[in-house]
Amino acid sequence: MIIVTGAAGFIGSNFVLDWLAQSDEAVINLDALTYAGNLENLASLQGDPRHIFVKGSIGDFDLVAKLLAEYQPRAIVNFAAESHVDRSIHGPEDFIQTNIVGTFHLLEALRAYWSKLDGAAKDSFRFLHVSTDEVYGSLGKDDPAFTETHRYEPNSPYSASKAASDHLVRAYHHTYGLPVLTTNCSNNYGPYHFPEKLIPLVISNALAGKSLPIYGDGQQIRDWLYVKDHCSAIRRVLEVGRVGETYNVGGWNEKPNLDVVHTLCAILDELNPRPDGQPYKAQITYVTDRLGHDRRYAIDASKIERELGWKPAETFETGIRKTVQWYLDNQPWVENVTSGAYRQWIDKNYGANA
Ligand code: NAD
Ligand code: DAU
Repeated sequence: MIIVTGAAGFIGSNFVLDWLAQSDEAVINLDALTYAGNLENLASLQGDPRHIFVKGSIGDFDLVAKLLAEYQPRAIVNFAAESHVDRSIHGPEDFIQTNIVGTFHLLEALRAYWSKLDGAAKDSFRFLHVSTDEVYGSLGKDDPAFTETHRYEPNSPYSASKAASDHLVRAYHHTYGLPVLTTNCSNNYGPYHFPEKLIPLVISNALAGKSLPIYGDGQQIRDWLYVKDHCSAIRRVLEVGRVGETYNVGGWNEKPNLDVVHTLCAILDELNPRPDGQPYKAQITYVTDRLGHDRRYAIDASKIERELGWKPAETFETGIRKTVQWYLDNQPWVENVTSGAYRQWIDKNYGANA
């Protein structure tokens, strides 16, 4: 079996759903259930013995040590983190505690466990750390996309905390030989994306008749990847990635924010026209820019394509249409998340375990 941390969040829950759709290898889901953790994402696994949920923090050394001893996993995939840049600007403390200190305690528990393994169990064990392209900082308009050797230049408390965690992971390999793999991925979108991030926020605000906030001039560029393609990349790296290596993951889909919002509005106009016949783009509002806002991210995914034979299955056009359709088909999920009712859902279905 494997341990997946942060698997009640956006990418982690997609990862577990895809994993168990393709394999019977059980998953221990270690998640602290912060505001971003929502077990309703995994409602289809209710009663499935292949999914074992444990509420707790990656920073709890004793708990992680107990889980490692009890379940003897062959791998850990670490999604657990504070992930929202705006929140890190308003309150960096949680980002330092979870992303840096939490990763440190997780690594310490893993080191103690792994150093006592021997033979095939030791050789085949893997720790895969899920990171972000934001650690590389911001690109100019004509700069080449980020490769794995790009200098780390994080600009927000979020990206600085992720950069620190990447460095710790690297150091535990270099110093203690821990068999680590790191992935640095671009912006994800898709089902179960918490509506504080651009794409789900715009879809849910549009449907609720609210304004669609564009920070600054809306010309900041992000490189978008459908979440299930990120999950397939992680599976591939876990399977055949070279220990100690980092792999950039992206879909070669650079888009200015305003173009993304216009695309979302156009798809909504087609699939769910406003009752008054007006276009959704009429709801766009320009608001004060994010502090220290990175201008452009772009991932050069050549290494993972060339060395591991990974390619995304979705283009931006197919993925974004699927995403809008998913939100239209799952309005109760959006309502539960925006109203906070998902907390009651978790209490009712998981009771004391959550
Ligand atoms: P998310 O905020 O949706 O989910 C994070 C999950 O981690 C939540 O379920 C939360 O409860 C859990 N968590 C938080 N602190 C914890 C702790 N101390 N112990 C255990 N669990 C804890 O985040 P996401 O968007 O799914 O991102 C997952 C990972 O992927 C993060 O490490 C993030 O940096 C990285 N990443 C995200 C993107 C993206 O576009 N969303 C892109 C590249 C990399
Ligand atoms: O690049 C990978 C990163 O992508 C991940 O590491 C982060 O965890 C993830 O949150 C995401 O960070 P961003 O800051 O790029 O995502 P966000 O959805 O918050 O914003 C996308 C862009 O849209 C960014 O330029 C800010 C802008 N924006 C965002 C919001 C929420 C707006 O213009 N208006 C908004 O209301």
